[in-house]
Amino acid sequence: MLERREFLQRAAAAAALVGLPLPQLEKQFCRETPPLPSADLYQSNEDAYWARMRPQWLLAKDRVNLNCGSVGCTPLPVLRTMIDNVLHNEEFVDPWYPWFGYEENPPLHEVVDSLAAFLNVNRDDLALVRNATEANNTVGNGLDMKAGDEVLMTDQEHPGGRCVWDQRVVRHGITIKEIALPKPPASAQQIVDLFERGIGPRTRIILFSHITTVTGVVLPAKEICAMARQKGVLTQVDGAHVPGQISLDIADVGCDFYGSSPHKWLMAPKGTGFLYVRDELQKQLYVNMASGSWRDYSLKAYRFSNLGTSNLSIMVGLKAAVDFYNTIGRERIYGRIHQLARRVRDHVAQKPQLKLINASADPFYGGMVTFAAPEATVKNIYEDCAKRRIRVSGGSDHVRVSTHIFTQPAEVDSFLETLDGTLARSA
Ligand SMILES: Cc1ncc(COP(=O)(O)O)c(C=O)c1O
Repeated sequence: MLERREFLQRAAAAAALVGLPLPQLEKQFCRETPPLPSADLYQSNEDAYWARMRPQWLLAKDRVNLNCGSVGCTPLPVLRTMIDNVLHNEEFVDPWYPWFGYEENPPLHEVVDSLAAFLNVNRDDLALVRNATEANNTVGNGLDMKAGDEVLMTDQEHPGGRCVWDQRVVRHGITIKEIALPKPPASAQQIVDLFERGIGPRTRIILFSHITTVTGVVLPAKEICAMARQKGVLTQVDGAHVPGQISLDIADVGCDFYGSSPHKWLMAPKGTGFLYVRDELQKQLYVNMASGSWRDYSLKAYRFSNLGTSNLSIMVGLKAAVDFYNTIGRERIYGRIHQLARRVRDHVAQKPQLKLINASADPFYGGMVTFAAPEATVKNIYEDCAKRRIRVSGGSDHVRVSTHIFTQPAEVDSFLETLDGTLARSA
């Protein structure tokens, strides 16, 4: 147990950081984080293991969160690391400044090292930024492009990836060409062929989401990048949904730029992001936020992290999220996320009123399953979910369901029962 004064200090800092009411934080932070369940339990009873894992999150018991695709849920060990760092920094005992956004101090050095190992990239090729939107803007604003140069992208790009290019259409006269992704895809080759046919004489760069926000479809990133490279076209991958949801090896993907928001599936603090920039392209890319080191090329990709005074503690939390993830294990996490998503997929597949628009085959989905239905039915699904305090996402003609390791089978069942009830009502 923490001393009351100390824990109140922590809870107040936590409340300010994570925006939760102080009494709730007080309850959580005066008790120790429960230990992680044992590997033996995983071997003997997987569901019990994951049920025992759930107290790692502050998630309210009377809510079902099936939309960590939009904003991730950060576990207590990561929150504690971040909050302890906030309090430590305010003592100003370290010789370096307690900030992120200027030179790489020792805590930031550790963050970059651990993230680089996690992503399988050289640490020099990695910039810390605040989210995928910033990563994408660094690329979109940083490349020299002439009027008439073209960006090829899909019709499922998130505004945080697409809009920087939209702005350049208006400012600099570049053009955007879109390809329509099939819903659902028939094969990986079908997608690669679509991109290949979309490339024209002025195509400079392809932007695509490794996992799209609209349907959650996993695109064959490695194959798209290999094809583009052969044609002399750059590749910008928006991987906002990828680290933590499916296995990611950026060297293997072979792209030129890869940006992400690890606050989503890696469960890192909100306000943490990264950008990978291929070594040969680092000097060509202008910074998005210019400060003292805007052309200090010796900084390599870290030059793109010089954003001005920003929060060091959330970056320290990012390392804690990588540690948390690695402690549980990549395969075990993916296995669970996908198993629960498959439960949703298999149920939906039996309903003639619903059409799966991403999960047509195993490689096309990780932890997100999306289905289309008539608008009136979709509206009823949202209404019924809201009544039962189930959070899902989607649009007017489709619903997207996200599952993670904190998701319990009973919560998935609760959604599926609700869905069945809605379909019966809408018949
Ligand atoms: C594919 C994709 N790119 C970019 C973003 C923007 O993420 P952020 O708000 O963390 O910058 C999202 C958010 O959902 C996304 O799904």
